[in-house]
Amino acid sequence: MGLFNDSLGASESLFRNELALDYDFLPKLLPYRENEQFKMAACIKPLLQGRTGKNVFIYGAPGIGKTAAIRFVLRDLEEETDEVEVIYVNCWQKNTTYKIVIEICEQLGYKFTQNKKTEDLFRIAKDIINKKCAVFAFDEVDKVEDFDFLYTIIEEIFKKTIFLITNFKDWLNEVDMRVKSRLIPELMEFRQYSAQETFGIMKKRSDFAFVPGVWETDAFALAAQKAADIRDIRGGLHILRESGLVAESHSSKKITVDYVKEALSKTEQFFARKPDNLEEDMKIILDIIAENEGKKIGDIYKVYQAKGGSAIYKTFQRRIRKLADNRFIETKSISGGTEGRTTIINICKLKKLTDF
Ligand SMILES: Nc1ncnc2c1ncn2[C@@H]1O[C@H](COP(=O)(O)OP(=O)(O)O)[C@@H](O)[C@H]1O
Ligand SMILES: [Mg+2]
Repeated sequence: MGLFNDSLGASESLFRNELALDYDFLPKLLPYRENEQFKMAACIKPLLQGRTGKNVFIYGAPGIGKTAAIRFVLRDLEEETDEVEVIYVNCWQKNTTYKIVIEICEQLGYKFTQNKKTEDLFRIAKDIINKKCAVFAFDEVDKVEDFDFLYTIIEEIFKKTIFLITNFKDWLNEVDMRVKSRLIPELMEFRQYSAQETFGIMKKRSDFAFVPGVWETDAFALAAQKAADIRDIRGGLHILRESGLVAESHSSKKITVDYVKEALSKTEQFFARKPDNLEEDMKIILDIIAENEGKKIGDIYKVYQAKGGSAIYKTFQRRIRKLADNRFIETKSISGGTEGRTTIINICKLKKLTDF
């Protein structure tokens, strides 16, 4: 009959290295980001020749390899040389100058940070770094609440490259003039992956993660198409993993279209953007945007105020960024007019995962 020939044995798995689907798993090579990585390296290179490096402002939508690209470059640098101190800070977790300087000290190997003041900690870090040179990467930098750490680094570290990384191009406009005029960064845009590139990336990752041959061709194509639809590799990796788990739960040796569909209906929750969970003020802002599609951020703020909104403009901007981070809205930076640069805001219209 062969009823069970097709099933997995109790100790068998479709995965050969499930870790490869983790968001922070770093593939050895980052396909389609080679140019960006070479450019990053070029900005660091002067440090290796005893000069100061170039600063870089990196921006682009969420989930398209900014963090992966910089972490790979920094890891490569650390493997190449001991002459450069390498510091990577995620500003979502460390969002004040004080927290950042503690993190810097710890990454430099200085452990006695307790009960020390910000200035003292900076002096310690400076003394260590200025014996050599340093590369700083401040990821998700739009989450920082003050710019003192940047000012101090710019002024007091002699030889350095500073990477500032964010999903929001416009954030640079908010940086203090005294910082911005000294930073003079190169701008580097990360563009969205095409559907074909998304397919290629997911294929590579699944080759690491799964036993060869377990994916049926059209099943994989469906998973990759969904990742392209939601424009997020991170989400795509999640779909791959869930599909594998669903197939395993059916003791199947193959991952078929049906299992992918089942995984998609399960993960819809995960990707669903539910306005219900938003804070009240964010909901109000989202409603205003829905009624004012394609308008400038300043105009939307005016409507918000007219409706009794009380947040100051800076707070309003933060909320806009939060809505964009969570894919409720899309922001686009445009130039022109009398105002220089401004931001256009639209409701994000991504396909639903379970639309087939
Ligand atoms: N070109 C790529 N090749 C392989 N994996 C990628 C690529 N781009 C993104 N990823 C993966 O997608 C996920 C999201 O990438 P990440 O760098 O965190 O995005 P961002 O920082 O732009 O929000 C990570 O798991 C990352 O490893
Ligand atoms: Mg990131």
